[in-house]
Amino acid sequence: MTTGTGTGAGSTAGTGAGAAAGAGADPAGTDPAVAPVRWGILATGGIAASFTADLIDLPDAEVVAVASRTETSARAFAERFGITRAYGDWDALAKDADVDVVYVATPHAAHRAAAGLCLEAGRHVLCEKAFTLNAREAHELDALARDHDRFLMEAMWMYCHPLVRRLKALVDDGAIGEVRTVQADFGLEGPFPPSHRLRDPAQGGGALLDLGVYPVSFAHLLLGEPSGIAAQATLSAEGVDLQTAAALSWDSGALAALHCSVVGGTGTTASVTGSRGRIDLPAGFFHPDRFVLHRDGRDPEEFTADPADGPRTTLRHEAREVMRALRAGETESPLVPRSGTLAVMRTLDTLRERVGVRYPGEEG
Ligand SMILES: NC(=O)c1ccc[n+]([C@@H]2O[C@H](COP(=O)([O-])OP(=O)(O)OC[C@H]3O[C@@H](n4cnc5c(N)ncnc54)[C@H](OP(=O)(O)O)[C@@H]3O)[C@@H](O)[C@H]2O)c1
Repeated sequence: MTTGTGTGAGSTAGTGAGAAAGAGADPAGTDPAVAPVRWGILATGGIAASFTADLIDLPDAEVVAVASRTETSARAFAERFGITRAYGDWDALAKDADVDVVYVATPHAAHRAAAGLCLEAGRHVLCEKAFTLNAREAHELDALARDHDRFLMEAMWMYCHPLVRRLKALVDDGAIGEVRTVQADFGLEGPFPPSHRLRDPAQGGGALLDLGVYPVSFAHLLLGEPSGIAAQATLSAEGVDLQTAAALSWDSGALAALHCSVVGGTGTTASVTGSRGRIDLPAGFFHPDRFVLHRDGRDPEEFTADPADGPRTTLRHEAREVMRALRAGETESPLVPRSGTLAVMRTLDTLRERVGVRYPGEEG
């Protein structure tokens, strides 16, 4: 087996001063002398804590405020991470002119309201996945970002991961020929009690929006929006999908077989097969530390992560991409374009329609 590394994956670092972010020109985000991008954190749950911890490690980022639905949670989070301002409501954070960009980390059902509030008040926004409950809400946020000339990006950290970018570049360069098949799965063993947000229809529960968004986004990354969508699911008593198996098709003849589950810990692997080879991603495919390229007639080639990229679970690649884009004066990221996010939301809508999952407030 031959080996390569994930470095040189094709940097998109731009140039230009960052008036929008209140920061100087340091697109790569490596110069600690540059004025930091000032972040606000909206919500104080699990991923908010992980993201904030990763942000604090970045010399060109500063977490200046946090907002929660309650002042108690906001204060506790602020104390934990040494954040100066703690707000007991979202509006105060949205209106804080010292915040350049807000990271929205509520459950999906609140993304539309939280991100919308921030965009309307003039903040840039990084919004967790699944971007919204449905495509209609996603289009509304997209329109708000345009109307207010603000940066808006889905926190699809997989797309910012150096090795995933390397894989995408190899596929685009024809390393495995024409893509024929994508396989990917993401399942968690649980068990998640009915009270958990993953089981709660009002919070956009189910496997698809929380976990299935990764296999679906992976297939979209390689093949774009599918023309055919079929699915089967096992539904919970609450009416969310406990597991979904999706079959997507493209006019080229390509197919994707995708699976997600909150009732079974799957291998969480992925593979892309083309007319002249295959790429296999091991467990944790959406934040890989290696993958193997099998070109027909050649020895397998292993690509491994650059240790300098940090732990494979780090969220700092997406944070860096946001700050690079802000400094370059961009209103969306070429790594996570909103057209791609909107397409993924349409696919998720159709998958839910196929299996009969509807969230409160969605028309019949
Ligand atoms: N990128 C990733 O790797 C990753 C990993 C996990 C989750 N996520 C995504 O991040 C989002 C949050 O997930 P999580 O695991 O952090 O969830 P979580 O631990 O349940 O935290 C969500 C937070 O949102 C607030 N919240 C709870 N219920 C709410 C409601 N009904 N309306 C508005 N806000 C509410 C709460 O903060 P306050 O009490 O402060 O208001 C809560 O702590 C989800 O969209 C999920 O898909 C992403």
